[in-house]
Amino acid sequence: MNRSEYETMMRGAGQRDYEIYLNTERLLACQKEPEALCNPDELQFMIVHQVEELWMKLMATTLLDIHDEMLAGRTLKALTLFRRVHICQEMMTAQLALLETMSPKDYQDIRLLLGNGSGQESPGFRVLLKMPKDLWAAYKAIYLEDGARTLEQVYDSQYSHDAAYMIAEALAEFDEQFQKFRNAHMQLIYRSIGVAANSLKGRPVEILNEGLKQKFFPELWTVRAEMTDRWGGSYGQKRSKLEPKPYA
Ligand code: HEM
Repeated sequence: MNRSEYETMMRGAGQRDYEIYLNTERLLACQKEPEALCNPDELQFMIVHQVEELWMKLMATTLLDIHDEMLAGRTLKALTLFRRVHICQEMMTAQLALLETMSPKDYQDIRLLLGNGSGQESPGFRVLLKMPKDLWAAYKAIYLEDGARTLEQVYDSQYSHDAAYMIAEALAEFDEQFQKFRNAHMQLIYRSIGVAANSLKGRPVEILNEGLKQKFFPELWTVRAEMTDRWGGSYGQKRSKLEPKPYA
């Protein structure tokens, strides 16, 4: 078979049950036709972004379910769903590496076609930025019992590795994974368009540094810093040096 026959085969006929159920005809028509691509890397560029949008859709939907499970006090179910979200986050970050196989020159061709678009317009990303506020409100209402418990108790003075601790750690993991994505994305930008370049909106890419510092659940990071400070107060800020152990 020649190249164009294979390309036709890739689209499928859309008639088999698998194709009908998964709507492969529409799905596989979401990318430009081969002859319309500015270069072969453009297909990868589109697919990576589209797949990332799908993972974000799954994550956002799952976070809505997690919110409901937390309000219902169904901790084990919420934790299973958190695991699903965390795996999606890991995949989102890992998949950015695909775009590092694209040369800076090939990306410049693609970039000419992007108008002044920006990932900040991504529907999935925008909704994910909003959701943590509601998740935190649900956490405080249910697991901190509307103010009857504190994070200090959950993490330190009454620490028992209980539901409140497990859900808090799942939220911290979400926060951490989000940062890992942002950091990997920043490295991808450096790799593709360089350090100190401007975005298609004419803004320096350094504006993304603000996002790199964002914490969705600052209290979860503060609680451990305060523990460290308290412990440091009791054993001294500066420890004495360890004595080398002689070989037996
Ligand atoms: C070669 C590949 C890529 C380059 C060069 C690139 C470049 C950029 C730049 C320059 C910005 C800042 C734009 C502005 O001024 O608003 C940005 C933002 C963003 N991009 Fe990308 N990007 C790439 C791939 C991706 C991919 C695959 C995703 C997948 C979802 C993505 C998602 C985002 C998001 C979510 C933002 C907003 C980030 C934030 O506000 O913290 N980008 N990108």
